[in-house]
Amino acid sequence: MAYPHLSAAMARGTELLGSDLAILGGAMSWVSERNLVSAISNAGGFGVIAAGAMPVDLLDAEIAATKAMTARPFGVNLITMHPDLFELIAVCGKHGVSHVVLAGGLPPKGSIEAIKDIGAKVICFAPTLAMGKKLVRSGVDALVIEGMEAGGHIGPVSTSVLAQEILPHLAADVPIFVAGGIGRGEAIAAWLDMGAAGVQLGTRFVCATECIAHPAFKKAFLRASARDAVASVQIDPRLPVIPVRALKNAGTEAFTAKQREVAQMLDDGQLDMAEAQIEIEKFWAGALRRAVIDGDVDNGSVMAGQSVGMVSREEPVADIIAELASEAEAALAG
Ligand SMILES: Cc1cc2nc3c(=O)[nH]c(=O)nc-3n(C[C@H](O)[C@H](O)[C@H](O)COP(=O)(O)O)c2cc1C
Repeated sequence: MAYPHLSAAMARGTELLGSDLAILGGAMSWVSERNLVSAISNAGGFGVIAAGAMPVDLLDAEIAATKAMTARPFGVNLITMHPDLFELIAVCGKHGVSHVVLAGGLPPKGSIEAIKDIGAKVICFAPTLAMGKKLVRSGVDALVIEGMEAGGHIGPVSTSVLAQEILPHLAADVPIFVAGGIGRGEAIAAWLDMGAAGVQLGTRFVCATECIAHPAFKKAFLRASARDAVASVQIDPRLPVIPVRALKNAGTEAFTAKQREVAQMLDDGQLDMAEAQIEIEKFWAGALRRAVIDGDVDNGSVMAGQSVGMVSREEPVADIIAELASEAEAALAG
């Protein structure tokens, strides 16, 4: 299928990514592994492996397995607070990974340079205009701006406000991918019109046939509407937790209890603030695994964005991408 208007509007994005369409499959821990990542890249998008809390040897194996399933480019998403970040970067280098996405906070000193040294492009999240400018000065090749409509860990600002704050000022400097709340191609067209080079979607890909998420996880997505995907609440002002958007369930209550437990450990001097934050992140990784892999959608974390209401059936990745691209093409041609 040819999408002349869409391809023209995404040219800077596709040039950077090396894919047919500048549609990134946002990395989702436990979900974005070899099957979904290769399916997205094979369908003309750009798949991204979620390294999450993976140890180095597992990422090594995952990249090798993904390469065996696609000859198209794909990326690896690394969380900046991972204790072995530099070893993970080295494994990406060993496999000739072309793009590394750094998520979860400011890139630590030397990490952008380390990624450039392995010959990969660096993509970072810009939570504010000031940070975006700083990242551009640090030499990143592209930015993602992600609004609070997204699934998973979120910032406090909506996609539409972030896009207005950042695109007019930085879109000329580096390609920018807009993420958060995108469910249809018309929205893709709108962000491209505003200067984005492409988009990143997560929620829309969870119910792909190729996605290994447990059938119960997919079913929860198919049933949910936008208002079911709620942000977690911080209960203790001393313990700043990054909010997570997920479907409301008993697991939401478990997070409240976990925060109380960690706050108590802070009080008792058993943990410092950095360790407390790691405890919280471990909780999320475990809770997400429980829902995605084990299918416990009542007690686990069913991370989902507000666009979950627009996920209406299980279907192959190629169909999802073709539908999004056709909608975007029609909107741009109109
Ligand atoms: C189940 C789930 C897990 C996610 N895990 C990660 C992650 O490990 N790293 C990351 O950078 N983003 C993660 N995200 C965010 C996605 O990469 C993507 O940016 C987001 O889903 C885009 O917004 P959307 O959900 O509205 O499409 C996750 C999202 C979901 C729904």
